Amino acid sequence: MHNDIEAIMYTKQEIDMMVHKIATQINEDYEGKELLAIVILKGSIMYAADLIRCLSVNVKIDFMQVSSYGSGTVSSGVIDIKKDLDTDVKGKHVLIIEDIIDSGRTLALLREELEKRGAESVSITALLSKPSRHVVDVKVEYIGAEVPDEFVVGYGLDMDEKYRQLDYIGILKPEVYM
Ligand code: IMP
Ligand code: MG
Repeated sequence: MHNDIEAIMYTKQEIDMMVHKIATQINEDYEGKELLAIVILKGSIMYAADLIRCLSVNVKIDFMQVSSYGSGTVSSGVIDIKKDLDTDVKGKHVLIIEDIIDSGRTLALLREELEKRGAESVSITALLSKPSRHVVDVKVEYIGAEVPDEFVVGYGLDMDEKYRQLDYIGILKPEVYM
């Protein structure tokens, strides 16, 4: 285990099980359809790579890097698109792949944006969600696990761009960020 990690929250095996479970649901729900997977950079790359490999439905892949700013509510929030899609989503079944949902602002705004662009359907998967931190009510169709309000890293998740390469999800030692 990495020196800066206090405890492991999900092992590689546990993550694998979550990913397979979600993939099974998606394969059922989208049978006969074609999906456009939108990988939200950078945190979701590991999750997306594993999830997409478990999909049996036809899937195309594109990338976006986004963040949200502005005050409390979705309607007053603004989405900041740092890297936009290469694909026109009009008429497509879109699956947003995110690492973790914290306030929920980014995803709520992104869903709105993709609907505005004319996607046929938009659904969201997040490997983790922190329900106690949500400030907006964002619908997430496929969640791996709900976690308490603790800062986690690994399997793509970072603190200051570090720890993304860990193959497990762990809780950082407080002295690392204090
Ligand atoms: P939201 O718009 O507040 O939901 O922002 C979610 C984003 O915050 C995620 O995509 C992560 O980049 C980041 N984030 C939130 N909680 C954590 C965490 O515990 N570890 C690492 N990144 C996190
Ligand atoms: Mg992120």
